[in-house]
Amino acid sequence: MSADEPLVLGIETSCDETGVGIVRGETLLVDAIASSVDEHARFGGVVPEVASRAHLEAMVPTIERACGQAGVRLQDLDAVAVTSGPGLAGALMVGVAAAKALAVALGRPLYGVNHLAAHVAVDVVEHGPLPEPTMALLVSGGHSSLLLVPDVTSDVQSLGSTIDDAAGEAFDKVARVLGLPFPGGPHIDRAAREGGQVAIDFPRGLTNNRDMERHRFDFSFSGLKTAVARWVEAREASGEPVPVADVAASFQEAVVDVLTRKAVLACMENGVHALQVGGGVAANSRLRAMAQERCARAGIALRVPRPGLCTDNGAMVAALGAQMVARGREPSDLCLPADSSMPVTLVRA
Ligand code: KG4
Ligand code: ZN
Repeated sequence: MSADEPLVLGIETSCDETGVGIVRGETLLVDAIASSVDEHARFGGVVPEVASRAHLEAMVPTIERACGQAGVRLQDLDAVAVTSGPGLAGALMVGVAAAKALAVALGRPLYGVNHLAAHVAVDVVEHGPLPEPTMALLVSGGHSSLLLVPDVTSDVQSLGSTIDDAAGEAFDKVARVLGLPFPGGPHIDRAAREGGQVAIDFPRGLTNNRDMERHRFDFSFSGLKTAVARWVEAREASGEPVPVADVAASFQEAVVDVLTRKAVLACMENGVHALQVGGGVAANSRLRAMAQERCARAGIALRVPRPGLCTDNGAMVAALGAQMVARGREPSDLCLPADSSMPVTLVRA
């Protein structure tokens, strides 16, 4: 790390985590997080107004904590980066307003960046420069996307995404059916360790021949979720106990099989030799194992950031901002909006 590399603070507020990260060049100095996830648990999903209010309360203390831990003064920053979309409109607005205020007060450039591109960019702080091109599989409670990334600071192409539920959303809904707490992903992951991956034959969405023509790199998890719910209902109606571990393992296997199969196929068909997996679902132990196995067989290098950098955080925004500064990309206009449906191909607002 050298002092002439750009020092960038990144703010993330697109969902329920208030994240503030500071990066110098490709080195992570701090990743401060305040999460409102516990406040949403009893509703079984993120409540937008609750998230916005929590961001407002956490913003200044989280910025102060990040600067304190990194030993950085605000006036040392070279630029401020913020998630400008996609995400929850009110939640995004809190982060964008805070970033604008900092940029104006400090007289530094502002980069409003795409949340999905930031999920990809974060891996530089762990595994060094991104291979160009990289394939990225982003799977979380809010997104399931397969992206071809020739240059994360300027060129991100969408090959496919979910046509209904996000992968993490399917984990959360199936967990609810099984009586497991929210967010359900980690609980299903744990329960599945004791269950049979082929105990129940659940459907693999959008994988038959016709779907592979029309939706080659798209995903669908809503049919799977319904199939699990029907199976559990039938079991309950019969008076037999529900084998939670078997249902969890077989459901998880169906999700992970489709995700890794399509991601590896996308790499092979596009001549890409590196696959990055990010988003909260990247913490899934079976997804990591199967991706490792299938990538190794296909000669693809697998890059998965550590779990804390896979879920939403400020470091990813700072990392993308720092790469934009290093590559001389134009900053955003100070009038930049929070764009809840920002297209993935727009890397910087
Ligand atoms: O990236 P993230 O923290 O927030 C967004 O949704 O953007 O992802 C949260 C999602 C939740 O749906 C959660 O159930 C899922 O990631 N998740 C997991 C695991 N850990 C978190 N899903 C499967 N297996 C896990 N181990
Ligand atoms: Zn995310």
